[in-house]
Amino acid sequence: VSSENQQILAASEWVVKLYHHLLRFTKDGKKGYQYLKDRGITDETIDAFQLGFAPEAKDFTASFLDKKGFHQQTLIKSGLLSQRDDNGVSDRFRGRVIFPIRNHLGKPIAFGGRTLTNQEPKYLNSPESELFQKGRMLYNFDLAKKHIRKQGEAILFEGYMDVISAYQAGVQHGVATLGTSLTETQARLLKRYVDTVIICYDADESGHDATYKAAGTLQKAGCSVKVANLTDNMDPDHYIAEFGGESFWNDVITSSLTFTSFYMRYLKKDFNLTLEGDRINYIEKVLEHLAMIDSAVEREYYLKELSNDYDISMESLTQQIQFHRQQKR
Ligand code: UTP
Ligand code: MN
Ligand code: MN
Ligand code: MN
Ligand code: MN
Repeated sequence: VSSENQQILAASEWVVKLYHHLLRFTKDGKKGYQYLKDRGITDETIDAFQLGFAPEAKDFTASFLDKKGFHQQTLIKSGLLSQRDDNGVSDRFRGRVIFPIRNHLGKPIAFGGRTLTNQEPKYLNSPESELFQKGRMLYNFDLAKKHIRKQGEAILFEGYMDVISAYQAGVQHGVATLGTSLTETQARLLKRYVDTVIICYDADESGHDATYKAAGTLQKAGCSVKVANLTDNMDPDHYIAEFGGESFWNDVITSSLTFTSFYMRYLKKDFNLTLEGDRINYIEKVLEHLAMIDSAVEREYYLKELSNDYDISMESLTQQIQFHRQQKR
């Protein structure tokens, strides 16, 4: 680590403490504290994740770090300050609840800041740097990894609040990508610790698309994939707030679908299943997928489902899947 990066790490540590202290104990941070309370986050969780609040003032952080003797150029590089047009600098994070982003050794290297109003962007993140490369790390991996090993599974979430709410509810083997799609590097990182990953993204259209993509990336890295049983546009954090941690564990995580079940549902969006032609194309497409499954028992399980749902004989389905399996060789 270069000496400038050492400085960035040191400044980040100060800022974590500063924002956390403000949130927990001062009038300036009250808004942020109240916001988290309203979302059901406890003091214990706030402390565990060192959540904080960055005040509105434009040079609060700048002057704090200046007094500590940090160079302005270093702080701009770290993303804590931004360069303004008029040659001045100002704090990047203002009036936002702060989520410190720790590397895998537990050192803060970046920040995410959530607006309390409806400012865009909803989450503002530190820019990428030598120290912070979003696609090479996972949020909360440092705390989660021992739980991941113990559970023999990892849960992959979309966002900070999903990870944190789950953690508070006792589901501690969750990590998140940081507003980007899962990269091969992240998939390989997970594979070093576990064989099975449960994807628990938001149950909305973009979440489903992202689930399909992440599943492919994970499978390519050698992971087996399950998909959490979340429906109706829910996101994990909302689900936990509404139905509690026990239901989240039993009805969402423990009730995860196989990737094939998810895929059979997901694929339906491309077809109008009231039309005969579309129905046939849908079934063909599912069969192509099932043909790639090595276990005969598993294949038969889903074939039965197709057979029942679309009133097609097992003989025809089996014949057709054999055809696809031969094509594949
Ligand atoms: P979501 O858009 O699903 O967050 O983004 P959300 O669940 O609505 O957020 P809350 O619950 O209202 O607070 C999921 C994740 O994507 C990243 C963040 O990491 C976020 O946690 N993201 C989202 C950004 O980086 N920037 C954004 O503007 C939005
Ligand atoms: Mn959203
Ligand atoms: Mn989302
Ligand atoms: Mn969400
Ligand atoms: Mn949410």
